[in-house]
Amino acid sequence: MVTNADIGVIGGSGFYSLLDDATEVEVTTPYGPPSDVITVGRIGSRSVAFLPRHGRDHRFPPHLIPYRANLWALRSLGVRQVLAPSAVGSLRPELGPGTLVVPDQLVDRTSGRTQTYYDTGGVVHVSFADPYCPAGRAAAVDTARSAGWDLAEDGTLVVIEGPRFSTRAESRWFTANGWTIVGMTGFPESVLARELALCYTTLSLVTDHDAGVEAGEGVTHEEVLAFFATNIARMRSLVADVVNALPEKRTCSCPDVLNGLRLPFELPG
Ligand code: ADE
Repeated sequence: MVTNADIGVIGGSGFYSLLDDATEVEVTTPYGPPSDVITVGRIGSRSVAFLPRHGRDHRFPPHLIPYRANLWALRSLGVRQVLAPSAVGSLRPELGPGTLVVPDQLVDRTSGRTQTYYDTGGVVHVSFADPYCPAGRAAAVDTARSAGWDLAEDGTLVVIEGPRFSTRAESRWFTANGWTIVGMTGFPESVLARELALCYTTLSLVTDHDAGVEAGEGVTHEEVLAFFATNIARMRSLVADVVNALPEKRTCSCPDVLNGLRLPFELPG
């Protein structure tokens, strides 16, 4: 029975069927339990741990997801590279529903979410200028291009607090700032991955045009869920292909991000 994995996937519950030889693992962390039991299995030759971000029954809204427990639990199972598929709204008319965006930048517009492991026992500042793993992004871009996706190879993800969607004025302001897509879960997930020296790559599926771009009634939750549901098979196959395209040996700088820093605890795993 395999209970360790190199690669973590944090996504919606439609991703369970990705895994062969799956085993469920209950993990506890100093930050409480993760969103749910973690399923460990294989995709091709790679060992993968799958964690449903919102819980199996979708009980955690974006602002209440136990982000610290989730990343800690994955690392404690051996995970070093994380893929994070998610639904996003588009801030650009030319990027319609069904487009895959592999963002290279992020703007944090959340408020009140705990965004660090390093809040006691010493001061640790991690580098976050480039929030995503360059090797993971390259694997995602190459894979999506080969599979024929409508693709934005880079872009800026703005993460809002939610759970409400943006007003039209907020949304127009995001577009005017040059930002590309808007979501609710990409932060602090990304920075907590960085604080644990994990590689982290987001695969953002555009499910709607955000309120400032579309002329109708604004985005609804039903619309987002329905669009994601009709695209889950494509996303599943993309995630499986990206898993297999990730480098076996990490040569990016993500593993070195904590070098020379005095950590108040030992990293798990
Ligand atoms: N997730 C999917 N669509 C979204 C939107 N328009 N705003 C924020 N999060 C989203």
